[in-house]
Amino acid sequence: MNYQHPKRYTVTAALPYANGPLHIGHLAGAYLPADIYVRLLRLLEQDVLFICGTDEHGVAITIRAMKEGLSPQEIIDKYHQLIKDTFAAFHISFDIFSRTSHPLHHQTAAEFFKHFYDKGLLIEKESEQLYDPQAQLFLPDRYVVGTCPKCGYDKAYGDQCESCGTALSPNELINPVSVLSGSQPILKSTKHWFFPLDKFQERLEDYILKQHSHWKPNVLGQCKSWLSEGLAPRAITRDLDWGVKVPLPQAQGKVLYVWFDAPIGYITATKEWAMYRAEQNAEYSPEDWVPYWKSSDTKLVHFIGKDNIVFHCIIFPAILMAHGEYIYADEVPANEFLNLEGEKISTSRNWAVWLHEYLQDFPGKTDVLRYVLCATLPETKDNNFTWEDFQNRNNNELVAILGNFVNRVLVLVHKYYQGVVPPLHSLESTDLELLQNVKTCGQRVVENILQFRFREALQEAMNLARAGNKYLAEVEPWHLITTQPQRVSTCLNIALQVVAALSIIFEPFLPETSQKIKQMLGVEKVRWLWKDLLCAELIQEGKQLASPVLLFEKIESNLIQKQIDKLRATSSLSLNNKEAVSVATASAAPLSCNPPKPIIQYDDFDKIDIRVATVLQAEKIKGADKLLKLTLDTGVDIRTVVSGIALYYTPEEIIGKQVIVLLNLAPRKLRGIESQGMILMAENSQGKLVFVQPSNTIENGAIVK
Ligand code: 2FM
Ligand code: ZN
Repeated sequence: MNYQHPKRYTVTAALPYANGPLHIGHLAGAYLPADIYVRLLRLLEQDVLFICGTDEHGVAITIRAMKEGLSPQEIIDKYHQLIKDTFAAFHISFDIFSRTSHPLHHQTAAEFFKHFYDKGLLIEKESEQLYDPQAQLFLPDRYVVGTCPKCGYDKAYGDQCESCGTALSPNELINPVSVLSGSQPILKSTKHWFFPLDKFQERLEDYILKQHSHWKPNVLGQCKSWLSEGLAPRAITRDLDWGVKVPLPQAQGKVLYVWFDAPIGYITATKEWAMYRAEQNAEYSPEDWVPYWKSSDTKLVHFIGKDNIVFHCIIFPAILMAHGEYIYADEVPANEFLNLEGEKISTSRNWAVWLHEYLQDFPGKTDVLRYVLCATLPETKDNNFTWEDFQNRNNNELVAILGNFVNRVLVLVHKYYQGVVPPLHSLESTDLELLQNVKTCGQRVVENILQFRFREALQEAMNLARAGNKYLAEVEPWHLITTQPQRVSTCLNIALQVVAALSIIFEPFLPETSQKIKQMLGVEKVRWLWKDLLCAELIQEGKQLASPVLLFEKIESNLIQKQIDKLRATSSLSLNNKEAVSVATASAAPLSCNPPKPIIQYDDFDKIDIRVATVLQAEKIKGADKLLKLTLDTGVDIRTVVSGIALYYTPEEIIGKQVIVLLNLAPRKLRGIESQGMILMAENSQGKLVFVQPSNTIENGAIVK
């Protein structure tokens, strides 16, 4: 891949409103992909700054305050802390997590406004706006509903009709109603300042359609639709007492529109980062923020969800263009929405998986959610999170592939070499192939992440763990330890190099797991960079390793069922929808049923001796109404097997039947009778048992494989 890194990166993730907790849709929409991207850049030794914070202005905050009976300040303090702690728990590695209520931000945002005002760029206009006389508030567009003038849908919002997709202004709605009080809003005259977006139409067209035509189709699509409608001046002030005060004497009681000040919050947060760093270390200057926003060799990347596209691709760039000194976005890898169990996530209906609750319900499993969300990111279209998929990916991928490989290698090295890295001897083609795989997987992970294909990148990373398992299964060191000790030593040395490489490759996705692997390798303090993947010996011969710990554990169905029950019990989704969820889960795979078991390797299967046998005799066992004592001709010998089939078969009906028997199961005593093997039965969801049989008669002792 021919990729030229810029001199530095400024990476932002949308500032979440400090008006509620975070849910999985937030993580999947912006923060997880942003974190993976930034972590990779750091491992590639790039100069990168990762900026975020809470968006603490706007009516969303004031309304939440009204609902909770608290002041807006109390609301933002409460949710800023919760959001910050939640991100920290999920290891989202911001360089700064700020807040737009910070005085420096009020100053920065007001300066932007003043700059435009002084340049004579803003349009001052008296207009009539909808006002809720009962709530005594001018109504923000979203808080007015009415009938769409285009399609007649009667629950259209003041800014958009969700039925036909038309962008609206609240004045266009037929029969508008305030969602705050239910009363009919009146038109009231008020003065506002408008940003002349229309003046930037041509420059934006050039910037988006010519210079950034590689943007994702979902992003370009929205931009094109806005541009083709023709841009119009937009009010950047509001009548509200909560927000950044408009810095003009004649603008009492007015604040900056939240979507004007919030993106400027990225700049303020960068200033704050520089100030803080300079306070800590005299080598640095508070002006260090400047190149991250004003230097053309900086790449600016905004991670956002799809509802933020127009603000980051059109309005914010226009603001930055108008200012003149700033760079604007190079990349806006916006994601679509993540649904939950087939339904749109809804905070008001409590149809969500809240991250702070997940942390309580699944302690120590932040990487599991990071993994599952990354595997289901809505990169190109809406995607769906289900608890069943969460369980399957944990059990069948994290436990069975990654965890299994790392654990097997570590356990074998401890078993054969007391945990000391064994030496390499001569390399064979399988060894070289695996080492080559490290490089190719590594390269593919980088390429995919740099192109915002996080799901594919994760798959590539998992492929290396798969290749590791395949390698062990092929070399079978456990069979060679006495006959070819040098081969085993080489094999396990190489397998350890792969384990070390996995700790690098998985670091962007699963930082906690990566750290655990390093701890096992006894190198937790070593910062391996991506370039280290290419070196032959990450972990050196003779090194003492720490004891192995399990990286992941199976998640049982009862825990999953609990989550589904909780979701259904606490949501106010209509009953129909709730039923739809239960039916959907039931038809996909009933959760009461056993989940698939983790993947095993062929050599695990190969240990099992399964044969065809014939039942020679069958009799009931006194006092045990479920058991039958069977005498079998296994082709190898005549033996006794006790089987729990008495509820389904009488002794008479099975004498003479051919059955399948697991021959090399350790004998055990049942009701005083030694059972030497086990008959294989199929069990349905009600527990009914039926024999598994050869389709034609075949000689006893025939091997099942
Ligand atoms: O949609 C939201 O949650 C907004 N608070 C995002 C703001 S992003 C940026 F512009 F600050
Ligand atoms: Zn409509």
